[in-house]
Amino acid sequence: MIKIAPSILSADFVNLERDIRHLSACGADYIHVDVMDGLFVPNITIGFPVLSAINGITDTPLDVHLMIDRPIRYVERFVDAGADILTLHYESDTDENTLDALKRIRNCGAKSALALKPGTPAEAVIPLLPYCDMVLIMTVEPGFGGQSFMADMMPKLEKICSWCSREQLNCEFEVDGGVSEKTARQCVQAGANVLVTGNALFRAPDIASFIQALKALEAYV
Ligand code: DX5
Ligand code: ZN
Repeated sequence: MIKIAPSILSADFVNLERDIRHLSACGADYIHVDVMDGLFVPNITIGFPVLSAINGITDTPLDVHLMIDRPIRYVERFVDAGADILTLHYESDTDENTLDALKRIRNCGAKSALALKPGTPAEAVIPLLPYCDMVLIMTVEPGFGGQSFMADMMPKLEKICSWCSREQLNCEFEVDGGVSEKTARQCVQAGANVLVTGNALFRAPDIASFIQALKALEAYV
């Protein structure tokens, strides 16, 4: 099944509750929450109080994408605040700490996920994949919504998908950045089953039809 994870970075923050309720009503599978600290990426977004508030108004699972330095410091707090899936960046700490953080996410009862920036090769994360419930392939440089999709990330996605299927790992494959009605099909064909979409979704004239159109890409799996 193709899952749609709208990124609330493109939502109307003054009307965040309205927008999130609408996303759930339109069939969103996850709510994608981008957390940025101004260090790992040159932008600052939201933290614990807002995440807790979102958690209080929706039953749709929260897919929390941490773009922060040394996320191991905050794993438990993000899960307590409502993260159902917690994604760390491979580049944000040492391999040892990243492994420890992934294990701690699962121990807290959430799903663990690892994100790769465009410059990070598939080979770098392979030893960590048995500890991941999801892998996030960035199709833009993390930091901002509304950027152009990088189609040259598709071979990396294919490589990770085929490694996981060979090893019989039960993993989801998410793409994030510039995903639209035009670019989603190649993601699905390369093995993605979770599509993050911000700018394209919130600009769509009808969000429910937009989500249905992306889910219909199941035909290309
Ligand atoms: C970028 C974020 C993305 C972004 C996606 O750093 O991780 O989730 O908001 O938005 P679009 O679909 O606009 O690229
Ligand atoms: Zn994201």
